[in-house]
Amino acid sequence: MIILKQMYVHDGRKFEALTIRNYTETDIERLISLQEECFPPPFPQELLWSEDQLASHIKTFPEGALCALINGRIIGSMTALIVQFEPDSPDHTWAQATDNGSIKNHEPHGNTLYVVDISVSPHYRKLGIGKWLMNTMYELTVDKRLERLLGGCRIRLYHKYAHEISAVQYVEDVMEGRKNDPVLSFLLRCGRSPIRVVSNYLEDKESLNYGVLMEWKNPFYKKRAVDHNSPFK
Ligand SMILES: CC(C)(COP(=O)(O)OP(=O)(O)OC[C@H]1O[C@@H](n2cnc3c(N)ncnc32)[C@H](O)[C@@H]1OP(=O)(O)O)[C@@H](O)C(=O)NCCC(=O)NCCS
Repeated sequence: MIILKQMYVHDGRKFEALTIRNYTETDIERLISLQEECFPPPFPQELLWSEDQLASHIKTFPEGALCALINGRIIGSMTALIVQFEPDSPDHTWAQATDNGSIKNHEPHGNTLYVVDISVSPHYRKLGIGKWLMNTMYELTVDKRLERLLGGCRIRLYHKYAHEISAVQYVEDVMEGRKNDPVLSFLLRCGRSPIRVVSNYLEDKESLNYGVLMEWKNPFYKKRAVDHNSPFK
């Protein structure tokens, strides 16, 4: 089992030991119950991880399968795969980018670490755990020499304003501090930047199926120079 971080987070009273490591087959049952805690209805329950999907994450790209533990119990998780992303044709759905959450489309030689999901148990939110999971993925992006980390963000409170403003305006309002969104505000605070609003990104009543593609650029990324005379192109 590969441990990636052992550190402390402050719970408002005392420091609690936090471990971030790759998840394995023995974690599957707990990861499924964590999903139920983190994505209650109206989020479509058929989109929660199944045993087969989690097993496929572990088999296909174990380095992209992260979980966070406090007192030996899994209280957060995050999953990613590598894809080839072309900024000139950015539109896609969550299902296309992740092969319906199975990540069987993982491309080891792609240019982008793509986030499939992130969640932290409601009992452990706002302690910085989501941000540490995100940081661990940023480190993986650097380690793999990828151009960027990318993923689609739910805009969970947009349904309350959809009768008066567009999804693009909603994102602008959150950025200008006129509104707060539980996921978009979190991702902005993690250093992710919105690049595009995509309609029909994911079945999600609260977001009216919109997703905001949000990027983090690897500051260490250097395009590998191609030697056109080399036989090894
Ligand atoms: C989104 C989620 C992963 C955040 O996890 P978390 O561990 O509570 O987040 P953190 O404590 O690391 O917060 C990091 C920053 O985001 C901010 N933040 C977290 N939740 C926030 C919220 N609901 N509203 C506004 N800001 C928020 C924190 O204040 C913190 O800001 P700071 O670094 O400037 O102090 C968690 O709320 C969750 O699991 N939500 C349900 C699942 C979900 O919708 N996942 C997203 C799928 S796209």
